[in-house]
Amino acid sequence: LFGLATKTIGRSFHYYDSVESTQTIAHKAAREGAPEGTVIIAGEQTGGKGRMSRPWHSSKQKGIWMSMIVRPKLPPERAPQFTLITAIACARAIEEVTGLEPHIKWPNDILYKGKKLTGILTELQGEADKVNFLIIGIGMNVNQTKDDFPEEVKERATSLEIESGNSVSKTKVVQNILKYFEKYYNLYMEKGFAPLKIMWESYAAGIGKPIIARTLNGEISGIALGITDEGILKVEDQDGNIHHIYSADIEFPS
Ligand code: BTN
Repeated sequence: LFGLATKTIGRSFHYYDSVESTQTIAHKAAREGAPEGTVIIAGEQTGGKGRMSRPWHSSKQKGIWMSMIVRPKLPPERAPQFTLITAIACARAIEEVTGLEPHIKWPNDILYKGKKLTGILTELQGEADKVNFLIIGIGMNVNQTKDDFPEEVKERATSLEIESGNSVSKTKVVQNILKYFEKYYNLYMEKGFAPLKIMWESYAAGIGKPIIARTLNGEISGIALGITDEGILKVEDQDGNIHHIYSADIEFPS
């Protein structure tokens, strides 16, 4: 990738015009031994995957559809923190290239004025005590106009072009995502999650506000308190009980 300012992330780089999903390609590459920092990017995905088995609409050439392979020497329970680290890197890259100030909605959405700009999907391949590899998928809406989004997401999605009023260079954004991801990943491996937690909270949407967290075990309503040192969301319900939420869909009731 031209103009890349990283040591490992993106040094091995594969571009495809059209694939079903960059996640699937990255999984296969990682199983076959692709090195740390390998990046797979596609112009279009015909079967893009979102969280919770949802489809991810990846219209031709309009967004950044990419997956990164990392091989951190860590126990598997640390994997969810990579979603948060990636979200900070994406938010930082958006700020740097467009001047927009996005927010992060726990765990994996980057929003602008409440609408979704970016989603992140972290998939783990590991054993009981160690991560073999992580595939971090990033889907960022860059140059879509409103009509490029399918009807069912039109009201909830937005793009860098819609919000900044200009067409945005995908190359520049990718270079910045990789630069900041490498920086924050190194910081995390050196100092742990604490410094990242502070950064994450500076971007966070809805801390201190009412939220509804829909988990596989039901719904929890309360006030979002922030995240723990492990990156787990804390919610206080109306009886003052504090819930630790590992995985959920979040709604901010209006
Ligand atoms: C979400 O918000 O649900 C996560 C969306 C992740 C989408 C990206 S696009 C690149 C990579 N390949 C996929 O099939 N999904 C991720």
